[in-house]
This record gives sequence, structure tokens and C-alpha cells, in this order.
Amino acid sequence: MTSLLAASARGLTKSFGRGDTLVHALRGVDLDLPAGRFTAIMGPSGSGKSTLMHCLAGLDQPTGGTVTVAGQPLENLGDDALTRFRRDHVGFVFQAFNLLPMLSAEQNIWLPTELAGRDRSSEAQQRFAAIVETLDLTERLGHRPSELSGGQQQRVAIARALLAGPAIVFADEPTGNLDSTSSAEVLSLLRQSVRELGQTVVMVTHEIEAAQYADEVVVLADGRITERREVAA
Ligand SMILES: Nc1ncnc2c1ncn2[C@@H]1O[C@H](COP(=O)(O)OP(=O)(O)O)[C@@H](O)[C@H]1O
Ligand SMILES: [Mg+2]
Repeated sequence: MTSLLAASARGLTKSFGRGDTLVHALRGVDLDLPAGRFTAIMGPSGSGKSTLMHCLAGLDQPTGGTVTVAGQPLENLGDDALTRFRRDHVGFVFQAFNLLPMLSAEQNIWLPTELAGRDRSSEAQQRFAAIVETLDLTERLGHRPSELSGGQQQRVAIARALLAGPAIVFADEPTGNLDSTSSAEVLSLLRQSVRELGQTVVMVTHEIEAAQYADEVVVLADGRITERREVAA
């Protein structure tokens, strides 16, 4: 039996610039990301981690090769279809939380649903309740970002990313702006969202401690995968 793939890349290349300034950020990446797993992408600065994440998430177009997310080859989608596909199937968590300051935590979490013009269906409300409970945000829902700690703000951003039930959540250095206590908290909650909500999470990090929360570590060096290893439970 083959396990479901949340995303996969074949022969992925990405170059920037030309002539003297040509940079090969990805030099042929093959990667399968099974559903329901937490994968950490590691590697030195400049090794291509963010470029790989952006190509997998449909935020950037590869120079060569293919990316498939939730069974959909991204190269077949035009700009508008790609934007809709991302909105419906991909979640993002950034280093700089990206919450709207004048909205409460609860309003921030529902914002993508509103922007997409979707109803708060009973299914969505049940999912909201489960996510808020898992991320321990129940008491914080009425607070604005400025009234929350960094760790709490990142938990709100994670809840926002999870609410639409995306096939895959991409997190680029999600603990980069957090102290070690908040980092541990956010990483355990990402872990829990994989275990309890069946979420698929791909996290870029350069911190070995952060990678320990993942099921598997993929190591990049100079635009190539040099190692894949399971993380001991
Ligand atoms: N928009 C861009 N224009 C030009 N070069 C870029 C751009 N984005 C990334 N690069 C280059 O591609 C390489 C990989 O970058 P990146 O994926 O950001 O690495 P990482 O996230 O591992 O630090 C680096 O050499 C970087 O300078
Ligand atoms: Mg980066």
C-alpha cells in the first residue's frame, strides 16, 4: 500500500539572475512528503530552504521540474487558479506572525475564511473549536495581537493556517522571533496538530532543537538534498 502524498517534487530546479549574477538555488530536488507527517527542512543559510518551500507552496515558479500538491500538478494552473488553489489547500506560518493589529485573535483566525467569501459552516465552527482547544487559545480569543505574547501570536497564526483544513502547512522559521520557552510551546503545538488533527506540516528551520520535533529531517546543501533521516521518537 502506498501512503498518500501531501506534496511531491521531481527534478526541481530554480535559478535566479543571469550571466555573472546567475545563482542556482535548487539543482534538482526530488522529494515526497507523505500526508500526516511533520517534516523539517534544514541546511545552512543560502542552501535553498526558502526557495524549495516557496516552489512547493506555489508561491514561486520553478525554473524546471514539477511540483504536485494534494494530487494537483501546479504547473497546469494559471495565476488565478493557482491563487485559489493555495487559498483552499495550503496554509502558511511565517517568522513574523503577520497578524492584523486591529483585529482580535478570533477575527484574525477567521479572516481567510471571510476573504474567501466562505460561510462559517458548522463543520468550520467545529474545526475552529478543536483547533482553538488544541492550541490552548480559548482564553485569548478576544485579545488583539498587541495584548498577546510572541508565542501566543504565533499560535494564533498557526490556528489561522489550520482552519481551512489545508492539505499541507508550510512554516518558514516559525520560531525565529521567539524565546526558547515560546519556541518549545509553538513546536509542541505544531507536533500536536500533526498527531491530533492529522495535519501535514513542513517546517524550514536552521535550529537542530526545532527539527527534533519533526518526524523526519531533510537536509539541503547547495540546492540539493544531501540527507534524509527519521527523528527518533
Ligand atoms: N529573489 C532572489 N533573487 C536572487 N537570488 C536569490 C533570490 N532568492 C534566493 N536567492 C539566492 O538563492 C540561494 C538560496 O536562497 P534561499 O532559498 O533563501 O536559502 P535559505 O532559505 O536556505 O537561506 C541563495 O544564494 C540566495 O542568495
Ligand atoms: Mg530562508
